Amino acid sequence: MSVIKDKSLKDSGYKKIDWVKRHMPLLNSIEQDFIKEKPLDGLNVSISIHVEAKTAYMAEVLAAGGANVTVTGCNPLSTQDDVAAALYDCGMEVYAVHGVSDEEYFKHIGAALDTKPSVFIDDGGDLVEALHGEKRELADSIWGGSEETTTGVMRLRAKEKAGRLLFPMISANDAMCKHLFDNRYGTGQSVWDGINRTTNLIVAGKNVVVAGYGWCGRGCAMRAKGMGAKVFVCEIDAVKAIEAVMDGFEVLTMDEAAEIGDVFVTVTGCKDVITKHHFEKMKNGAIMANAGHFDVEISKPDLEALSSSFGEIKPNITEYKIGGKSLYLLAEGRLVNLAAGDGHPAEIMDMSFAIQTMSVRYLAKNHAFLENRVYLVPPEIDEYVARLKLKTWGKAIDSLTPEQKEYISK
Ligand SMILES: NC(=O)c1ccc[n+]([C@@H]2O[C@H](COP(=O)([O-])OP(=O)(O)OC[C@H]3O[C@@H](n4cnc5c(N)ncnc54)[C@H](O)[C@@H]3O)[C@@H](O)[C@H]2O)c1
Repeated sequence: MSVIKDKSLKDSGYKKIDWVKRHMPLLNSIEQDFIKEKPLDGLNVSISIHVEAKTAYMAEVLAAGGANVTVTGCNPLSTQDDVAAALYDCGMEVYAVHGVSDEEYFKHIGAALDTKPSVFIDDGGDLVEALHGEKRELADSIWGGSEETTTGVMRLRAKEKAGRLLFPMISANDAMCKHLFDNRYGTGQSVWDGINRTTNLIVAGKNVVVAGYGWCGRGCAMRAKGMGAKVFVCEIDAVKAIEAVMDGFEVLTMDEAAEIGDVFVTVTGCKDVITKHHFEKMKNGAIMANAGHFDVEISKPDLEALSSSFGEIKPNITEYKIGGKSLYLLAEGRLVNLAAGDGHPAEIMDMSFAIQTMSVRYLAKNHAFLENRVYLVPPEIDEYVARLKLKTWGKAIDSLTPEQKEYISK
């Protein structure tokens, strides 16, 4: 069984996957190892991820390692139907259709769990949530899972703290080779790609407000500055606010920013970052985009309540008419880089998915020794991925001499 939009879209999906494969040398190398060693032989692996070309290639690599892979989405708007069709054509079970209702989306997550995976990859925590709720009966057969993003890790840590986590989890997001590059440079580039291709407006000279100066926010602010915007940062963490000031940005509250922003980007992992009283203060024509995992950072209920009318005026642009002005929300407030773009660049996701595939391999081998906790990615995996990345670039680094080792270990 599978649920996809249209099998005939597969050729376009294959072309997209073929392009990213040419730019993901780490996964190419891991794929070759997996073909030889079959470390996942016969293992059921479910993955809940943004169904697009790079994740599709990761699914193929897991299958090359011998896994029976089932794929489902992690966001109703980020699934690309042509890629889902190509994965189905490869023989995988796929439950992913672009633009499904929330109810259908959770049904697909349930279907991916009904295949009884031993190991899984989650992105944002919806699959884990189902295993702690309506699919609780399947949790006992889970060996472990790996979580892709900050929001998912936060949800896992809350469960761990409450003593409720039902199986071991690896926080792939916390690997150095993941968040340092994916969250910062990946989000930094792809968020602006999503905004620019959707709006086709200039960034230079605009007042850009970035809410959240964590890994992703730093990237979004840095790239906005590079394109000539005047960048303002909103934070709740005093240390991050100082960092933003020293990086050359203005720090202010969202109340203050609301009045001057031309473009707003939320990337906090929190909810209600921009709400009613901010919308009331905003300038006519202000554009809002979210890059945090869930569509709760910009309050859509408040926008709807304030509007005399609203509707999509162009793909991925919703206009809200509020008291004689228009405010624009991109991609329905869902991750703008994935819902209105193709996500992060392939070379970045090469590192993230090298971490993920190695973590799945680690779980398959070591699950018997793991407790129901959130584990960091073993440092040797981070080191392996970093060294492999440098190797694919043809770059060498220095090594410590025995004398240096002794000197720094005294
Ligand atoms: N769009 C993407 O492709 C993508 C990629 C990676 C992560 N993410 C998601 O982006 C979000 C942020 O991830 P991160 O790795 O940058 O996390 P992070 O923890 O490094 O940064 C989040 C920052 O937001 C700040 N913050 C929290 N609540 C706030 C509020 N109400 N107002 C202002 N600032 C607030 C925090 O102090 C922190 O500095 C998460 O939801 C994560 O899952 C998205």
